[in-house]
Amino acid sequence: MILNKYSRIYTQDDGLPASQAMLIGAGLSDADLRKPFVGICSTGFEGNTCNMHLNGLADEVKRGVAAQGLVGLRFNTIGVSDGITNGNPGMRYSLVSREIIADSIEAMAGAHYYDALATVVGCDKNMPGAMIAMARLNRPSLMVYGGSIRGGEFKGQQLNIVSCFEAYGKKVNGQISEEDYQGIIHNACPGPGACGGMYTANTLAAAIETLGMSVPASSSLPAESPAKVQECLDTGAYLRRLLELDLKPRDILTREAFENALVVVTVLGGSTNAVLHLIAIAHAAGVHLTMDDFQAVSNRVPVLADLKPSGKYLMEDLSKIGGVPAVQRTLLDHGLLNGDLMTVTGRTLAENLADVQPLGAEQDLLRPFDNPIKADGHIQMLYGNLATKGSVAKISGKEGLRFEGPAIVFNSEEELNQGITEHKIKAGQVVVIRYVGPKGGPGMPEMLKPTSAIMGAGLGDKVALITDGRFSGGTHGFVIGHVCPEAYDGGGLALVQDGDWIILDATENTINVQLSDDELTQRRAAWRRPPLPVRQGVLLKYIRTVSDASHGCITDLLEEDQTGAPHPSTS
Ligand code: FES
Repeated sequence: MILNKYSRIYTQDDGLPASQAMLIGAGLSDADLRKPFVGICSTGFEGNTCNMHLNGLADEVKRGVAAQGLVGLRFNTIGVSDGITNGNPGMRYSLVSREIIADSIEAMAGAHYYDALATVVGCDKNMPGAMIAMARLNRPSLMVYGGSIRGGEFKGQQLNIVSCFEAYGKKVNGQISEEDYQGIIHNACPGPGACGGMYTANTLAAAIETLGMSVPASSSLPAESPAKVQECLDTGAYLRRLLELDLKPRDILTREAFENALVVVTVLGGSTNAVLHLIAIAHAAGVHLTMDDFQAVSNRVPVLADLKPSGKYLMEDLSKIGGVPAVQRTLLDHGLLNGDLMTVTGRTLAENLADVQPLGAEQDLLRPFDNPIKADGHIQMLYGNLATKGSVAKISGKEGLRFEGPAIVFNSEEELNQGITEHKIKAGQVVVIRYVGPKGGPGMPEMLKPTSAIMGAGLGDKVALITDGRFSGGTHGFVIGHVCPEAYDGGGLALVQDGDWIILDATENTINVQLSDDELTQRRAAWRRPPLPVRQGVLLKYIRTVSDASHGCITDLLEEDQTGAPHPSTS
C-alpha cells in the first residue's frame, strides 16, 4: 500500500529535482524522501500558559512519528490567548484567529502535500481552527490537545482564571484588599496549560475526543502530566495506522459523531462557544449542523457534571476519576452515545471504551441520571423579535428560567465597563451589549470581563445580559449571546432603547422586547448602520467575509449554502 501518495508527487518525480534538492538541503536523506511526510503543526508561542509548552509537545510528536518510519516536519501557526485579550480591544482578533489558523494550516499542508497531519494545540480557537483545516484537507490526521493548567491557590481559596475577573468586581466594590487582589493574580495560573474549568478549551477538547479526532483520555490529561508526553510519543503509531487504513477526518466526522459530541458538551455543561465552533467544523467536514441540532440534544440530554464555571470541579479532577472516557462509558451504557463510530485509533468509540469503567456513586463530579444538575441541556436557542435568526443562552437553572426587566443599553464593551465602574447597573435590569457581533465588533469579542465584574459586584443573579457578542466559557449567570442578526446588520438589538421592557424566557425559548411591530418598524426606518469599525487589514477582510453566528462565523460560506431563514416562531 502506498502511504506517501501526496508527498511522492514531488519526492519521487525525476522531473522535480528542485523539490528534492530543497528537502535534502533541509536535512532529509534519500531514504526519508521515500517515507510518508507528516506535517506537525503547533500553535506554540511564548507569553500564554495555554500555548507555552506546545512546541515541546510537538517535539515529542516528531520523535514518535520518526520511530514509526515517518518523516515529521514541524511548522507553527498563530494562536490568540482569550485570557490575555479578554477585556481589551485585542479580543477582536480572537475569533478571527480561528480562521487564520485554519487557513494557514490548510495552505501549509496543502502546498507541501503532507501525507498526514498532527496538530498540537491549546487555547480556545486553536482547536476548532486546526479541526477545520484537517477536515478541509481530509488526509489522515489527529489533534493533540495541550491539556489543562493546574488549579491555583491563595489563602486556601482555589483559583482559576475566572477568579481574577471576579476579584476585580470585588475590588471595584471595595470587598477585597489590594494585597488579596494581587495575591489572586499572582497565584491563579501556576504553570502551562489551558484554563482548567469546563470553559471553551476543555469543552472543545472533550467534544473533539468524542468526535473521534483525538486519542482516548487525551482531553482530560493535565498539561504537565507524564501521560501527556506519552500521548505525543504514541501519536506516530496512531498516524501510521491511519495511513495504513487510509482513514481520513471525513470518515470520522460524520453527522452521528457530531451528535455524540453535542451530547458530551451538554452533559459536561460546556461552553456556548461550542455552538459556533462545532457548526464551523461540521461545515468544513461537509456536515450540515445547525442551532436546531443543539436544541434537539438539549431537549433530551441532562447536565450531569458539577464542573466550573457554574459548578465545583476542574478538568484535572475529572482526569483523576477516569477522564472523558469514563463519562463516555457512562453515557454509552445509558444509550446516549452511538458507539459504532470510527475514531483515530482505528477502532470504534465502543471498542475504545471496552475496558473503561462507568462512573458511579464513588464520586460526585458526575451526578446520577436521577439527580442531574439540570434535567435538560443548559445550551438553549432563543428566538424572538430581538433574535429572528436565533441566540444562544446558557441556562444552568440556578439563575431561574425567566427574566424580565428594563433594558440598559451599551454600544460597546468599553461603554459597559465604564458603566460598571460608575455603578450604573442596577438589580432587575437587562444589560444589552450591542455592536459587538462578528462584523460590528468586529470579531464577536467575549464579554468575560464585564460579566465577571458583574458577578463580583454581587449582581450576577440579579441582572440578565444579552449581546450579539460572545460569552466566555467561564461566564455564568443569566446570559444570552450570539444574538442574530447582529446589531451592525440592523438586528433587533440595534432598535432597543434604555428602559424598553425585555422578556427572556428559557421555558418558551423566547427573547423579545415589548414593542409593537409598528414601533419597531419606525425605529428600523430611523436606524443608520454605524461607520465601519476598521478600515484596513485582517479585521476588514473578516467583516467582508464572515457569516453570521447562526452559520458559525465561517469565512467560506457559499451564497447557496446560506439557509438562515427566520425561525418559524418569529416569522
Ligand atoms: Fe487559553 Fe483560556 S485563555 S484556554
